[in-house]
Amino acid sequence: MTQPMYPAVVPLLSAGSPPGPHFPVGGPVPAEDLVGREPYMRSTTTRLSEGEHLLIAGPRRIGKTSVILEVLRRLRRMGAVTAYVDCLGATDIRGLAERLAGSLLASVEGKEGAIEDARAIASGLRARGRIRYEHLELVMPLVREASAQRAFEIGLDVPRAVAQRTGRRVVVALDEFQAAGRLGPRVFDVMRSRFQAQRGVAYAFLGSEEGILEQLFGEKGRPLYRFAVAHDLAEAGGHRFGIDPADWHAYLVRKLRQKRIAIGETEVDRMLDATGGHPQDTMQLCAALYHFMREQGLRTVTSELVAIAYEVALRELERPFALHWSDLGTQKYLQAVAKRIARGEPLYAARPDGDVPRAEVLRAVTSLRARGLVVRTGRGRYDYLEPMFAEHVRRLDVAPGIVPSR
Ligand SMILES: Nc1ncnc2c1ncn2[C@@H]1O[C@H](COP(=O)(O)OP(=O)(O)OP(=O)(O)O)[C@@H](O)[C@H]1O
Ligand SMILES: [Mg+2]
Repeated sequence: MTQPMYPAVVPLLSAGSPPGPHFPVGGPVPAEDLVGREPYMRSTTTRLSEGEHLLIAGPRRIGKTSVILEVLRRLRRMGAVTAYVDCLGATDIRGLAERLAGSLLASVEGKEGAIEDARAIASGLRARGRIRYEHLELVMPLVREASAQRAFEIGLDVPRAVAQRTGRRVVVALDEFQAAGRLGPRVFDVMRSRFQAQRGVAYAFLGSEEGILEQLFGEKGRPLYRFAVAHDLAEAGGHRFGIDPADWHAYLVRKLRQKRIAIGETEVDRMLDATGGHPQDTMQLCAALYHFMREQGLRTVTSELVAIAYEVALRELERPFALHWSDLGTQKYLQAVAKRIARGEPLYAARPDGDVPRAEVLRAVTSLRARGLVVRTGRGRYDYLEPMFAEHVRRLDVAPGIVPSR
């Protein structure tokens, strides 16, 4: 799993900040660089504003966080109170509850720091009257509670209390939601029991471990069974990764034209072929291409330039890809099978580098699919979801300088 490169509680007020990079890579991207997500964001905004709970599960780095942050921004403009919590950032249940309550208070009050101030008041470090909050009472019981379990339950009730007190719609986004499960044995049961009676509150659950999330919400007997409706981002509109290639075309042409760089249809297609349209990888390639052209003072994109940018982007993606790869090393045969798929080799045939038992191949394939790394393309045929990751894997055992290709 990749480490998020942005704070767990995203500042609400970004007005006045200097412009970001021309092609943003890394953390969540601003709305104007969110390619092809308009229809999805519109429907998500509407559904949450109507109180529906949504499950947004999808492969890594396809823009889940970017999308939800923009949706929350729109909901705030519509008058809703919102919270965003990255569950990976919490180390215990009390921490999770405090993040949730803190984010909500920041949204109603229009400033951050309510939990810290509430704590200072509770411990007698500061006088209540000196700090101006309208709704601080909502979090005082939470910071005063000695039992972590009780504090957790109190925190989970804050959304309802805010909705009741303000009369406004409350929308809570819980990102990397599957990670909340590691905080305690009955975290999800407690959530269900608290959340289900809350009027005026809508929840969006997000995460990249699709298998776990689908089980959690889709299997009978699981604590969150049918609590949220899956709202598919990865295949929205029937497009690969849910993004219409025409939107990438329009975006690239427009963004490059702003910098007086011209790009033709063929080159855009070439770029999308190389990345499979994977959002992060495509953006990384755009950024590499742009920087290279700026440095060299070039004005027209050619296939050669796309090829150079591809090599640069692949190198820049090495670190996240390597983390991913070492993750696969924790399960026997996973890397071996992943390599065979990357190279398009037969999965079951005996090979000089040691045979993998048939049952183990199947187990590995199931695991790679559950991780959202490979998809089935036909009988016994699998391919990587992310072509650049496949290329990274193909190059792993090769001496530098030799560039193999399928
Ligand atoms: N629709 C998009 N248009 C352009 N770039 C995108 C888009 N979606 C994602 N990206 C790129 O992918 C990167 C990761 O986006 P984001 O963090 O929103 O994805 P995520 O699905 O939440 O990732 P993770 O699985 O790590 O949580 C962004 O920095 C951006 O470069
Ligand atoms: Mg994310």
